[in-house]
Amino acid sequence: MTEDRKERQREKYRAADPAEGPLTTDQGVAVDHTDDSLTVGERGPTLMEDFHFREKLTHFDHERIPERVVHARGAGAYGYFEPYESCAEFTRAAFLQDPSVRTPVFVRFSTVQGPRGSADTVRDVRGFATKFYTSEGNYDLVGNNMPVFFIQDGIKFPDFVHALKPEPHNEIPTGASAHDTLWDFVSLQPETMHMMMWLMSDRAIPRSYRMMQGFGVHTFRFVDARGRGTFVKFHWKPKLGVHSLVWDEAQECQGRDPDFNRRDLWQAIEAGEYPEYELGVQLVPEEDEFNFDFDLLDATKIIPEEQVPVRPIGHMVLNRNPDNFFAETEQVAFHTANVVPGIDFTNDPLLQARNFSYLDTQLIRLGGPNFAQLPVNQPVVPPRTNQRDGYHQTAIHRGTNYSPNSLGGGCPAIAGADGYAFSHYAERVEGHKIRKRSESFKDFYSQAALFWNSMSDWEKRHIVDAFRFELGKVEAVHVRERTVEQLAHVDYDLASQVAQGIGVALPEPGANNHKPQASPALSFDNLQGDGS
Ligand code: HEM
Repeated sequence: MTEDRKERQREKYRAADPAEGPLTTDQGVAVDHTDDSLTVGERGPTLMEDFHFREKLTHFDHERIPERVVHARGAGAYGYFEPYESCAEFTRAAFLQDPSVRTPVFVRFSTVQGPRGSADTVRDVRGFATKFYTSEGNYDLVGNNMPVFFIQDGIKFPDFVHALKPEPHNEIPTGASAHDTLWDFVSLQPETMHMMMWLMSDRAIPRSYRMMQGFGVHTFRFVDARGRGTFVKFHWKPKLGVHSLVWDEAQECQGRDPDFNRRDLWQAIEAGEYPEYELGVQLVPEEDEFNFDFDLLDATKIIPEEQVPVRPIGHMVLNRNPDNFFAETEQVAFHTANVVPGIDFTNDPLLQARNFSYLDTQLIRLGGPNFAQLPVNQPVVPPRTNQRDGYHQTAIHRGTNYSPNSLGGGCPAIAGADGYAFSHYAERVEGHKIRKRSESFKDFYSQAALFWNSMSDWEKRHIVDAFRFELGKVEAVHVRERTVEQLAHVDYDLASQVAQGIGVALPEPGANNHKPQASPALSFDNLQGDGS
């Protein structure tokens, strides 16, 4: 029997799906014929009493569920995670304590903008979401392949995604970033500039899911056994190195094989070429929170690796393809709020919004409150809750279901403060209720400029070409112009090359822009790919 607890759990579900024996209805009644419906005579109308026909059609009519509102297209795989050594110094998370303990994982890679049936090799961010089935419950690290995000506050997410998605009147374009609404939004929201630089770089067209990085993006918090917190940023590094397609290759792949990245992942695992990633962390002691020239709670900023090196803490191997795309890859439900003791949140306003949004959307996408019972979502430790009933309830609960409770039955005891249970980090907060973002979030251009300055000449060329291609499709001249103005804040040469390519005037140097001084110590060298 396999050692992997998730695999043993899946085995039970496979056994419940008998592959042998005659065809039956959902009620288990064997059917004698499935090709002709029951009719009056050989050429007459179909009879309502044909329950097999009705059941077959009805089920088919209800096979589709809503696709994810973002990250609709994805590919997943199972595997395991192993820490290199105990991380007890920083976190009490059980799965980060013992190098001899393998924690099962499920990973889903995705594109963000396109629908479920769109092509893989579009210019887009890639999702990199990992569910760790730990001995203390599920921990989800729901990351992307870029270390920053477009916006600082989750309240803007619906606006941003409405601008990013196809335009409402004609649903064009699907799967591309070249359109007016996106550039209108980003040129009016300069906090997007850093992420737009990443999006126009080769990072946005990865060669393979096996060859891209992953980032938790937000600053999270590790909490040790004594309750001491340490800020943490998560990094996945692929063992095969970071590789991208160039634009022409990406275009050709879209035509020849829209499943290019999905197929690559599947075939590599079938061939025993298991994708492997190292997990690294950047750790910042709580007392150093304000020692940076940006805000640790601002998801549009990286912590430069020269300031805080990435410390490798473990590795993940993906070694099993799912058995069923819908049951597993489509129904998996990641959620930033799925944390375990030892890992906690910060007040990053983007993270706080995500902690609401994922569960909320999954309630509709997966049809009610019981989706944690789906095999791919089940923890490997038995959940014991007082949650009852609801659509698609599969458990047969016994006993009472409330707390406190002296009658016994279904009600579990509350774990004591013995280190087993999750208890929220006791951060001190106070203040007035206001809708105002701190001044420490207001530098929109310095890290965008650092990114640009850290690029080699050929990488810069690709970025300029990408801006020209994408902006060149924008019909509203004022949107093109305003975007160039924004780029002038990042780098005047970049703005001037883009302006030339798309036929708009460049603002006077110094009039409406500045060239931030990049400190060489803040280079992005360590984040660069190997090129292609
Ligand atoms: C998927 C919301 C920012 C990574 C989703 C989904 C929603 C959502 C509603 C669909 C989930 C589902 O149907 O199961 C948000 C909101 C954000 C935000 C409100 C900002 C406030 C981010 C950021 C990242 C990210 C910053 C990366 C760090 C992902 C990934 C998925 C996803 C990887 C796909 C998960 C999967 O494979 O099933 N997001 N998101 N999102 N989001 Fe976000």
